[in-house]
Amino acid sequence: MKKITAIYPGSFDPLTNGHLDLIERGSKIFDRLIVAILRNSEKQPLFSLSERKEMLIKMTSHFKNVEVDTFQGLLVDYAVRRKAQAVLRGIRAISDYEYELQMALMNRKLEPKLETVFMMPAEAYSYLSSRLVREIARLGGSVGDLVPKMVEERLKEKVTGSILRRRA
Ligand code: PNS
Repeated sequence: MKKITAIYPGSFDPLTNGHLDLIERGSKIFDRLIVAILRNSEKQPLFSLSERKEMLIKMTSHFKNVEVDTFQGLLVDYAVRRKAQAVLRGIRAISDYEYELQMALMNRKLEPKLETVFMMPAEAYSYLSSRLVREIARLGGSVGDLVPKMVEERLKEKVTGSILRRRA
């Protein structure tokens, strides 16, 4: 039987419990899941590409069919290079739908053989986003229930580091 490889692309700045929930769900239905971090030179991320990759590798090492990689350029070109048949994206609320549908249909136009599969994370993560996590951490709030412990610690280091730099 044909083995199905899916790409789970994103910025993962930082990785959240919602992402991990989706990775776990994806690892159960696909034979191979490649978590692909976008190398985007236009955006100034909080965590460098290597920091994000390191955290993702550590937090997904127990999934034997999950691989972490980075990509730049068009997602469809990367998917073809990696011989993937599907792209996995999470839909948290109806507000995600419009953007995700637009992206999925545009990707289909570019590469008709590539299917986008939407999965819903656990309800508890339906309001969770990396952007809000960054903001809460920057303003000194607790993100303990929203991200893995390792990410929480790295966020604290980033915030303390930037406060100290501002004072210096
Ligand atoms: O986590 P994000 O920021 O929502 O992920 C967005 C991502 C990386 C999936 C999207 O920006 C993307 O696929 N970028 C690669 C460039 C590309 O293929 N653009 C055309 C999309 S139709």
